[in-house]
Amino acid sequence: ITVDPFDIVVFGATGDLAKRKLLPALYERDLAGQIPPEARIIGVSRRPMTRAEYQELARDAVEDRDGIDTIEAQRLARFLDRVDYVAVDAVSDEGWSELKAHLADGEDRVRVFYLAVGPDLFDDICSRIGQYGLVTPKTRVVVEKPVGKNLESARKVNEAVGRVFPEESVFRIDHYLGKETVQNLMALRFANALFEPVWNNAHIDHVQITVAESIGTAGRAGYYDTAGALRDMVQNHILQLLCLVAMEPPVSMDADAVRDEKLKVLKALVPIDEKSAPHLTVRGQYRAGASAGGAVSGYLDELGSPESNTETFVALKAEIANWRWAGVPFYLRSGKRLASRVSEIVVAFKPIPHSVFDGSAGPISANHLVIRLQPDEGVRLWLMIKDPGPGGMRLQHVPLDMSFAEAFGVRNPDAYERLLMDVVRGNQTLFMRRDEVEAAWTWIDPILDAWKASNETPKPYTAGTWGPSASIALIERDGRTWQDD
Ligand code: BG6
Repeated sequence: ITVDPFDIVVFGATGDLAKRKLLPALYERDLAGQIPPEARIIGVSRRPMTRAEYQELARDAVEDRDGIDTIEAQRLARFLDRVDYVAVDAVSDEGWSELKAHLADGEDRVRVFYLAVGPDLFDDICSRIGQYGLVTPKTRVVVEKPVGKNLESARKVNEAVGRVFPEESVFRIDHYLGKETVQNLMALRFANALFEPVWNNAHIDHVQITVAESIGTAGRAGYYDTAGALRDMVQNHILQLLCLVAMEPPVSMDADAVRDEKLKVLKALVPIDEKSAPHLTVRGQYRAGASAGGAVSGYLDELGSPESNTETFVALKAEIANWRWAGVPFYLRSGKRLASRVSEIVVAFKPIPHSVFDGSAGPISANHLVIRLQPDEGVRLWLMIKDPGPGGMRLQHVPLDMSFAEAFGVRNPDAYERLLMDVVRGNQTLFMRRDEVEAAWTWIDPILDAWKASNETPKPYTAGTWGPSASIALIERDGRTWQDD
């Protein structure tokens, strides 16, 4: 489906996000025929650069991206034709009149300001956008994470943005919500009659959410050291996944209907405080080890500092105090330099109440529904079946497997492709509302405070493993294990 011509202004146009994600995503959507010829992509940053130079940067960004199939020279040239550049200083008046002049003939179009810059610049950029009269009725702003580093700073960011843009024009992006499998979670839950009746504490034993990365801080150690795994991954991505698993069926797919339900889940999270944190949380930090077949340095070496208490791994046991979920733990974990890159949600059902089989049938494992986000996206339902053949009643735990790549054989679009087009179309369903972000911080802040107050430092783990042994103990104490199938 094509959209009307639009202008997208990318602040931070020479940065990592623009190069790795935004430009390639826009190119892909152009290939798919979704970007009208009159659309304009205007890169903005402080660096003086000509239009041609920025087009070269955009060309490299598209050509260098991962998972590229083929670049068709003609189509790339057509895409680059839509790319322009204006040097603008976020913290002074330099360049703003030029930007205004560039946008002057697009008053009636959808206009998107994409803030692919650090949050310390949000306030300056938004106020100048307001001051220079760049907000038209169809203007939207995209705010990248991190939205603050605690509740107080998140409020400040939200207020600064809110002074210029009404909430219905603000698109706080969490790219996990644009991942195919994450959206499939909603399809699975609300387009099938099978799961909803058992989606509660009567039938579900516990839920696990793992977002494991094999990479280290990948050249972002400076930022990462001010954040850590809890802020970088749990406050946003993992809590969003938790919300989609746990929320009540929304009345519709309307943005506020979905976000109202997610907000209720966040508000029902049982607070973790100084007393409970040692039992419910584990922090880790990687030491030198091996990853992807090669030796890798430890976090402190990457950071170039002898000391830091920033966690590169976190495991948590969360509880949701409501009728549906009381008594069902949600075990969450995320880390860098882990054994492999795998993100999945495991819904572990309760064991059968009574076995009619004798001992020769073997053990009966409980059913699991595994929703795999990456790599090889798909859904697996683990069931007990009879071992084929005449050897008597022997039972086996096997997956009913649906790999999306095999089932559909299509390219899996990057999350940013979907989300950018949602902004252009004005659909906020997959974006975080202000109160959601703040509710997530309300739960995260006391954990950060508890860690700060304790004398404990993050537990070391060797790069290329599954994190500190304490994270295994966290779940095994409850008689459960992390699933890694
Ligand atoms: C980002 C984090 O939000 O998500 C990064 O800041 C992390 O630290 C990345 O590497 C993971 O995203 P993906 O899509 O590769 O799982």
